[in-house]
Amino acid sequence: MKGIEITVKHRSEGSSYKIDIRDSLLETVGAWALERIGVRPKKVVVISNPTVFSLYGESVVSSLKSVKSEVSVWLMKDGERYKDLSSLDAALQHLSENRLSRDDIIVALGGGVVGDLAGFAAAIYLRGMRFLQVPTTLLAMIDSSVGGKTGINTAFGKNLIGAFHRPAGVLIDPHVLRTLPRRELTAGFCEAVKHGALSGFSLFNTTAEYLARKNASEGQESLEKLIAGQVAFKASIVRQDETETTTRNDARSRKILNFGHTFGHALEKVTNYRRLRHGEAVGYGILVAGEISKNLDLLSTNQLNLLYDVVHRAGTLPRISDIEAAAIFEAFKFDKKISGGNLNWILLNGIGNPVVVPENDIPRSAIKRAVEKILIS
Ligand SMILES: NC(=O)c1ccc[n+]([C@@H]2O[C@H](COP(=O)([O-])OP(=O)(O)OC[C@H]3O[C@@H](n4cnc5c(N)ncnc54)[C@H](O)[C@@H]3O)[C@@H](O)[C@H]2O)c1
Ligand SMILES: [Zn+2]
Repeated sequence: MKGIEITVKHRSEGSSYKIDIRDSLLETVGAWALERIGVRPKKVVVISNPTVFSLYGESVVSSLKSVKSEVSVWLMKDGERYKDLSSLDAALQHLSENRLSRDDIIVALGGGVVGDLAGFAAAIYLRGMRFLQVPTTLLAMIDSSVGGKTGINTAFGKNLIGAFHRPAGVLIDPHVLRTLPRRELTAGFCEAVKHGALSGFSLFNTTAEYLARKNASEGQESLEKLIAGQVAFKASIVRQDETETTTRNDARSRKILNFGHTFGHALEKVTNYRRLRHGEAVGYGILVAGEISKNLDLLSTNQLNLLYDVVHRAGTLPRISDIEAAAIFEAFKFDKKISGGNLNWILLNGIGNPVVVPENDIPRSAIKRAVEKILIS
């Protein structure tokens, strides 16, 4: 099967990196790395976790060794709570002990947690070294591995410490999604619906159609195409607003990627980050943002129904009917504090037309009705 190659070329400078999407590409990661880096790296450090490494580590390491690089492996514990300073410290220690130089390479093999931590280690070790992303979850393939955001969580909040650091290349092998647990797939599909709703009917319909057929022995080729469409959309946004310019509020600013995240973050916080996967919380967040958009006469009932339909096709979301609206409003305050007092909602003026609206410009009743409706649904 022929692969797909997407180039992320940044508007601000000439530099670019490539995202390769091809089934069974993982076995040839060594040759691929050589091609993307341009020269044979002397040393390669694979950063992963035990879950992913036990499935794919051996073939990745042997492929990297086949191009005559010296390979070492550092595994972080599996879980969002380990995306923290102490794991970062341990990762940096491994790089130092193995005397990595700036000509060497880090390969991040895993989901968004591994990618964010490994990317941040690459950003700060020796003031920045090259790294390759090999995302193994759907969310990491279509979202976190594209766009150069890296970072860790602290006691004060998620992703508050980090850096923008572009990968030298991204390798997406959809084959690995066969071992991904069902809920992780649902979470990734919710982010895919988010991209579709922001992008327009072309990607929205491709996503909806894929989700409608996915249980009926859907071929790998259409999954590749879906991932390619998703990656191309994210790349189109980040290439022209890489660092999420705080003053930009237009329909193509990086800020719009937070669609579904205001309520999503609040829901994650209220449930102590335990009950829902991030993408599942975003699934509910898309519906709340859709309801608010409808309450403000921005979104038609028809299009809102389409949103419901596609979010439900992504998979079953955990029940949230026991959560009080008051707790959600408390959690909004936390997001507001982190954003310096300016909480923005990303709403839809129709599918494909996002608008950034300051919270203060929205009647509280429009938000309250939307939140209450989703909580009891
Ligand atoms: N940098 C960005 O722009 C960006 C964007 C979105 C999300 N994120 C971050 O991404 C993280 C979430 O990423 P995630 O959803 O990939 O979660 P994750 O990395 O925790 O992976 C989910 C689970 O799936 C397992 N797994 C991964 N690949 C597998 C495979 N192929 N087969 C079987 N199991 C597999 C992992 O071990 C883990 O248990 C969060 O920390 C979030 O902040 C970053
Ligand atoms: Zn997200």
